[in-house]
Amino acid sequence: MGVILTGDRPTGKLHLGHYVGSLKRRVELQNSGEFEDIYIMIADAQALTDNAGDINKVRNNISEVALDYMACGLDPNKAVIFIQSQIPELCELSFYYMNLVTVSRLQRNPTVKNEIQMRGFKQSIPVGFFTYPISQAADITAFKADIVPVGEDQLPMIEQTRDIVRTFNSLYKPVLVEPSAVLPNNSVCARLPGLDGAAKMSKSLGNCIYLADSSNDIKKKVQSMFTDPTHLRVEDPGHVENNPVFIYLDAFCKDEHFAEFLPSYQNLDELKAHYQRGGLGDGTVKKFLNEILQNELAPVREKREYLAKDVGAIFDILKKGSEKAESVAAKTLDEVKSAMGINYFAK
Ligand code: TRP
Repeated sequence: MGVILTGDRPTGKLHLGHYVGSLKRRVELQNSGEFEDIYIMIADAQALTDNAGDINKVRNNISEVALDYMACGLDPNKAVIFIQSQIPELCELSFYYMNLVTVSRLQRNPTVKNEIQMRGFKQSIPVGFFTYPISQAADITAFKADIVPVGEDQLPMIEQTRDIVRTFNSLYKPVLVEPSAVLPNNSVCARLPGLDGAAKMSKSLGNCIYLADSSNDIKKKVQSMFTDPTHLRVEDPGHVENNPVFIYLDAFCKDEHFAEFLPSYQNLDELKAHYQRGGLGDGTVKKFLNEILQNELAPVREKREYLAKDVGAIFDILKKGSEKAESVAAKTLDEVKSAMGINYFAK
């Protein structure tokens, strides 16, 4: 039995990259019944570390992300879904953890380094942003999570958390739990490229299929996908490597899809071989991919539309989840303060 914690920054709706890279896995872990507790956190406070001037973006995306979660099958009866900013204990833990981390340790964090560059902060890095790996350690340790399902880019955060836990436990008392990351089990799913072939689906690049997209949006987006630029005529031999249409097929296509939507082939290997040989047009492959994605995403979208009719109910769920999360975090904070000997008034 273990405790799972993971989460997302609410800076936009969730997309197909999140779906294959993390959401499906979380639902499987949730439904496996193998874990004591599962906490899914909407990391609004972390989102504000680089969006201080855009509170509305973060606010408005809280219910969007919650809808995406539940539409994919995260179930508030099995997982605690909560909002980070509603758990003040996380700030208190962060404040004590800050004393256990050096500035140079934070400066070496490769994900933060990369984000600083991508956001063009140069010398104007918000202190909150620079220190978010510490707050992320508070998120994880407050729930004594030992399993953190995340993407590869989050590994430095887990490593930082483990460092903090080890330092805390040896300086004071061993009350914190060292977490391990659980990465996506397949490399295609770990990083779905954008529709335009960019390395990653990302809202800022405008190359995403969202879980909330209409069936027509999906169709148009698939039709507009980047393929193999050397495959000019149908007869030309094509490349399947680095071809996002085939990468998406690797992520989503099962043999049954051929029987249902493209019976002239048995499986993806046959389809790829034809494409590589020449004589198979992009249109046919895209039409097939569209059928598969429509099939996969229709139930998610329908559930999302249904849930979106009552956003009040979504906030009730988040409120209950936040209350439950706070009671757990408060208990850990008590243990932390008593381990540090700063529980002056405890009886
Ligand atoms: N950093 C994560 C992201 O950008 C979000 C997050 C915040 C998180 N706290 C966490 C993930 C704790 C896992 C565990 O997606």
